[in-house]
Amino acid sequence: MKELKTVGIIGFGVMGAAIGLNAAANGYRVVYKELNDELVKSMYEKFVVKPLSKRVGQGKMTQADMDKICGMISGTTSYDDLKACDLIIEAAVEKMDLKIQIFGELSNACPKDTIIVSNTSTFLIEKLMGKVENPARTAGLHYFFPANVNRLVEVINQKNTSDETYKALMTFSKQNKKVPITVKDFPGFAINPIFISSYLVLNGFLGDKYNVATLEKISQETLGVKYGIMWVQNGSGLGTAYHAGASMVEYLAGSDIGFPPVPDQLKKMFESGKLWNLEDGPVLENPAERKVVGDALLGSIFCISTHLIEKGVVSVKDLELGVCTALAWPKGPFTLMNEMGMNEAAKRVKTAVEAGYFKMPRKFASGDLKPWDI
Ligand SMILES: NC(=O)c1ccc[n+]([C@@H]2O[C@H](COP(=O)([O-])OP(=O)(O)OC[C@H]3O[C@@H](n4cnc5c(N)ncnc54)[C@H](O)[C@@H]3O)[C@@H](O)[C@H]2O)c1
Repeated sequence: MKELKTVGIIGFGVMGAAIGLNAAANGYRVVYKELNDELVKSMYEKFVVKPLSKRVGQGKMTQADMDKICGMISGTTSYDDLKACDLIIEAAVEKMDLKIQIFGELSNACPKDTIIVSNTSTFLIEKLMGKVENPARTAGLHYFFPANVNRLVEVINQKNTSDETYKALMTFSKQNKKVPITVKDFPGFAINPIFISSYLVLNGFLGDKYNVATLEKISQETLGVKYGIMWVQNGSGLGTAYHAGASMVEYLAGSDIGFPPVPDQLKKMFESGKLWNLEDGPVLENPAERKVVGDALLGSIFCISTHLIEKGVVSVKDLELGVCTALAWPKGPFTLMNEMGMNEAAKRVKTAVEAGYFKMPRKFASGDLKPWDI
């Protein structure tokens, strides 16, 4: 198997910087490619020197360790300087044409066995790699924000990805102390379809009866999390949340999977430039009215998780691990279903299907109530 020593990162922004720092801290040489020298310099100051100096000042890192990491890092504006890289991770802005162009440039500039991956959140990997010679060396490597803290990485196999490429990426992820899961090329991959559908369903309830504070509380209690879905949505920004939702609807709403619509409430809030106000009034106490939302949320999570398994996107074990790692839920969808009993889970699934969020997954349509083998 190809040994990876030097990693190129396209885009020295929030994600690229953290992915590269993680690799440099774990012994890889890292070359950041940005649009111009100014950006290389300013991003190096902002994302490398400043946070590492802060850690040294706090006594969390020695100056020698910081110097070692900085010594592994260099910057460039030229694709030619990426020739020595064994792996190149693209983390430029989320624009399809730009990414396709970048991969074309990389294919021209680099040896034919350099592994080339994208950290895209929404585009199909196969589509992005259309201009790359030898697509067997291409794949997706999807990190989660904040990439220096969140340990999950989705290793995404597109139909041309070779076994050698896949194995090299699994090894790379583990050497970076990440938790890699194996995922097939699919809209949003494995974790985001669950998270995105969850917030679309919750946002759709906003109105006279349910305020933001109530929906946040219901999501905390239903999933057993400290920070609920509304809080996490604020973290990623409502613009990102809106666009990601719209993109998933475009891909899946008309398919045999289905997807919850993007509610006007989210569109309006994103357009206003504000975030959800998590303290917008008293929390609704009525248990029956709270259960309506909790059941819709769980039903939606159970539907999409079952569809992902039935489409062969990910294994039960990896999806369970991925949800718990990336989203910090104490229990994944399959444990939630098994623990409440498959009869009860089937009732929630029916609720979500009747609400028009998803099509009925085959397992539940056939009346198969065998618990999941986790
Ligand atoms: N932010 C997140 O939560 C998150 C999570 C997972 C994946 N992603 C994905 O990661 C990618 C990057 O996102 P981000 O939030 O870091 O964006 P960002 O805007 O912080 O950084 C993108 C950087 O790419 C640079 N760039 C643009 N064109 C370039 C080119 N031709 N060559 C080199 N550099 C170029 C820009 O100057 C910018 O600094 C996107 O595809 C995004 O969907 C983001």
